[in-house]
Amino acid sequence: MIIMITGTRTGIGRALAEYFLESGHQVIGCSRKPSDIEHARYQHHEVDLTQNSQVKKMFREVRQEHGHLDALVNNAGTATMNHFMTTPDETARRIFDINFFAVLNCCREAAKLLRKSSEPSTAILNISTVAVPWALDGQLVYTASKSAVEQLVRVMSKELAGFGIRVNALGLPPVRTVLTRTVPQPKIDALVERQAIRRMCTMSDLVGPVEFLIGPQSAFVTGETVMLGGVH
Ligand SMILES: NC(=O)c1ccc[n+]([C@@H]2O[C@H](COP(=O)([O-])OP(=O)(O)OC[C@H]3O[C@@H](n4cnc5c(N)ncnc54)[C@H](OP(=O)(O)O)[C@@H]3O)[C@@H](O)[C@H]2O)c1
Repeated sequence: MIIMITGTRTGIGRALAEYFLESGHQVIGCSRKPSDIEHARYQHHEVDLTQNSQVKKMFREVRQEHGHLDALVNNAGTATMNHFMTTPDETARRIFDINFFAVLNCCREAAKLLRKSSEPSTAILNISTVAVPWALDGQLVYTASKSAVEQLVRVMSKELAGFGIRVNALGLPPVRTVLTRTVPQPKIDALVERQAIRRMCTMSDLVGPVEFLIGPQSAFVTGETVMLGGVH
């Protein structure tokens, strides 16, 4: 499969890229800064996904080189922990730009290439968070942006079903990455205590669900957000 994963320089995106490369797939990754992943089947685009002209250029290059895509994982994203009263307008808009509008724009461009795939069922997977069902205080803008993504999943799954493209989301509990580096340990521990499975989610906990949701075994699954760790 040719899999595009956004935000592959660090964290979850990088772990996913390495996993799918090891599994024999071709991976197209991107982020604003260069990647140090070196692999014959890996290609990196330096792009700011909040700039739609750069998004379009990246997908144009992918079309020219590969002609199609088999899966898109919208992973790139950001978070801030802040009371909404002290979250400036620019910060709120910046979070929506990467967490929602970049996802919307990547889906629009990717759908054109997923339609050209010879796979019987192609997939878009968006990364969300357990902070949405938990409605965590201090994460109003972050959770609102990911809620918008989960609504995108529900509507887009219907609009793309006719093209054989499935659209789902995976909601993650806390995972150790640069994104969570600044969250104090007691706060992380308290979140883990809220999960039914009371241990920290690792990269190996999430690669299986990602593989399932973009692969042929989930050919009849669309419009869903799957939460990891037991959050309800
Ligand atoms: N870690 C957690 O506990 C956790 C929990 C739930 C959900 N998530 C979600 O998982 C996803 C990945 O998070 P992570 O923890 O792996 O974060 P991370 O380590 O900060 O990685 C984010 C990646 O996105 C890229 N990126 C950020 N802004 C970008 C932009 N404007 N254009 C292009 N690339 C951009 C970054 O690379 P550059 O800096 O080079 O652009 C980086 O590679 C996010 O959607 C996050 O909301 C994470």
